[in-house]
Amino acid sequence: MSIDLSRKRILLTGGSGFLGAYVFEELIWRGVPDRSIFTPGSKELDLRKWESCVRAVKNADIVIHLAARVGGIGFNLKYPGELFYDNAVMGIQLMEAARQAGVEKFVCVGTVCAYPRLTPVPFKEEDLWNGYPEETNASYGIAKKALLVQAQSYRKQYGFNAIYLLPVNLYGPGDHFSVEDAHVIPALILKFSDANLKKLPEVTAWGTGNASREFLFVRDAARGIVDAAESYDKADAVNLGSGEEIKIRDLAEMIKDMTGYKGGIVWDTSRPDGQPERRLDVSRAKTEFGFQATTTLEEGIAATIKWYTETVLS
Ligand SMILES: NC(=O)c1ccc[n+]([C@@H]2O[C@H](COP(=O)([O-])OP(=O)(O)OC[C@H]3O[C@@H](n4cnc5c(N)ncnc54)[C@H](OP(=O)(O)O)[C@@H]3O)[C@@H](O)[C@H]2O)c1
Repeated sequence: MSIDLSRKRILLTGGSGFLGAYVFEELIWRGVPDRSIFTPGSKELDLRKWESCVRAVKNADIVIHLAARVGGIGFNLKYPGELFYDNAVMGIQLMEAARQAGVEKFVCVGTVCAYPRLTPVPFKEEDLWNGYPEETNASYGIAKKALLVQAQSYRKQYGFNAIYLLPVNLYGPGDHFSVEDAHVIPALILKFSDANLKKLPEVTAWGTGNASREFLFVRDAARGIVDAAESYDKADAVNLGSGEEIKIRDLAEMIKDMTGYKGGIVWDTSRPDGQPERRLDVSRAKTEFGFQATTTLEEGIAATIKWYTETVLS
């Protein structure tokens, strides 16, 4: 049965983050009054602390849990301990606090990094436990995957309505742009734009370029999360993706052309590729709650470059 979110009080953790800002917009667009959405930041309520989790869930009917420590390969290599601890402890405590407070529904947002390194492509939700994740993102992926077990256990023992979504790599306007810590799309946009400004003859990109990735435009991801919050109530995890895959080498060429950069690309093979291949089977989201991505990679990257040029560069 579908929930009328416009009548609910919603705790949206991570609401100030990249994805959170779009989920907030989507909720407003569907008629949820902004006074009904509580989006505490980490300064107001640090969710690594139990008392903050208890305060956060007070009066909430629905929890959408997005708060997390997140970054690209560089960030994962630098901070594996923090990524494990912060992501596990925030989620575990928040879900327990929500259960104790009698929250109606808990929407937990996981990550594609939870999948085993060599999952057959396209990744099906049933394959989640068939191996260890890619080493570079294992601590982040496993910390978040533990929350799936928690959600399923709470449903079994307490009848708690916790659902679990697995978005693929996201991108779009408002993303975090930094060479070392960012995800691949913002890192490449930044490098090519910077090389354009400085008239550099070449740009260095990480890895061999042979790995492939799937990307989901952040606004589509927000729509999928709110669709699931409204009308998906089962224990099984659900992938959220576009179902389309591109080699990093082709992605780099595409961004190079779209930023107007005329120089060359050098591949720094001393940097890791990360997981060799990533593409999700996106059929369950379509069957269960009618979600399908609608933004093409070209459209999404054009919007991201435009935002970066107008907002960050100017
Ligand atoms: N970005 C992707 O490609 C991607 C892909 C798949 C899944 N996801 C998942 O989507 C969710 C959102 O990711 P994002 O990219 O939007 O991340 P983000 O921009 O880095 O936002 C993270 C959010 O978490 C909050 N947060 C971090 N530590 C906290 C703490 N100790 N207490 C309370 N809040 C805390 C931050 O609040 P402050 O700013 O106030 O610190 C911020 O609002 C995450 O669960 C992530 O695993 C993201």
